[in-house]
Amino acid sequence: MTRLICVSSGKGGVGKTTVTSNLGAALTHFGADTVVLDANLTNPNLGFHIGIPLYPKTLHDVLKGDAHITEAMYIHDSGLRVVPAGLSVEDLKDTSPENLSDVLLDAVGEPDFVLIDSAAGLGNESVNAIEASDEVLIVTNPNLPAVTDALKTVNIAEEAGTDITGVVLNKVRNNDAELNQEEVESMIGYEVLMHIPDHQKVDEALAAKKPIIHHDPDHHVSERFKKVAADVHGLDYEPRIREDGFLGKILDRFR
Ligand SMILES: Nc1ncnc2c1ncn2[C@@H]1O[C@H](COP(=O)(O)OP(=O)(O)OP(=O)(O)O)[C@@H](O)[C@H]1O
Ligand SMILES: [Mg+2]
Repeated sequence: MTRLICVSSGKGGVGKTTVTSNLGAALTHFGADTVVLDANLTNPNLGFHIGIPLYPKTLHDVLKGDAHITEAMYIHDSGLRVVPAGLSVEDLKDTSPENLSDVLLDAVGEPDFVLIDSAAGLGNESVNAIEASDEVLIVTNPNLPAVTDALKTVNIAEEAGTDITGVVLNKVRNNDAELNQEEVESMIGYEVLMHIPDHQKVDEALAAKKPIIHHDPDHHVSERFKKVAADVHGLDYEPRIREDGFLGKILDRFR
């Protein structure tokens, strides 16, 4: 059965697209038939994170009724399927985000997972995506504004009857100014599946137009994303989490 998982946050820039692309890459790595879909209709950029060429048909065409979702599905070399959104302002005209639910139903059946990269904020665009999904994976950063916005997203999902898959705590710097995992869990009310460090490699991967899982598969950030994917999929996976630096490398040898 296809699982429709919306990656959502409330606050912008916390790492939704990064999580969507890497979770998609990791689920594909584990053999799951996976589609990632760019439901950030106003500011789409999932295609840049994965490295797909400009594609003739996009989610905007599908939402306008001008194409079937399968016509807007690009197959990446890795096997991951990507439904990009249109990049021009023209694409926004006559696009109906409320059609997303019907469009997703057309995608249900064959794939194991459809991951929906959602827009920031809690406007129509993102609320439609939450309502159209079976589950919401919350992405947040360890600070009060991001967690407060994440909590609002959780409330909207609960009202819509959409399950919460869990929380990914992204851009963690491990400093005293941050909320810790327990604080985040007690505010949001759901388990933090993984914390992902704030790491320059993630930006390097984006510059290379690749998920970090493709750019540097053995990096500890990639391993953390694989562990999230394994948890979401219900697989056993022991991540090789080697921190940076000499000490981390030594410890890893004895792990
Ligand atoms: N763990 C991380 N470490 C370092 N940089 C990161 C990390 N996660 C994301 N970033 C960077 O933060 C920026 C925003 O990430 P991303 O586009 O995934 O956020 P978003 O929540 O999808 O944003 P938007 O709300 O605009 O859609 C990007 O430059 C990305 O490379
Ligand atoms: Mg995004």
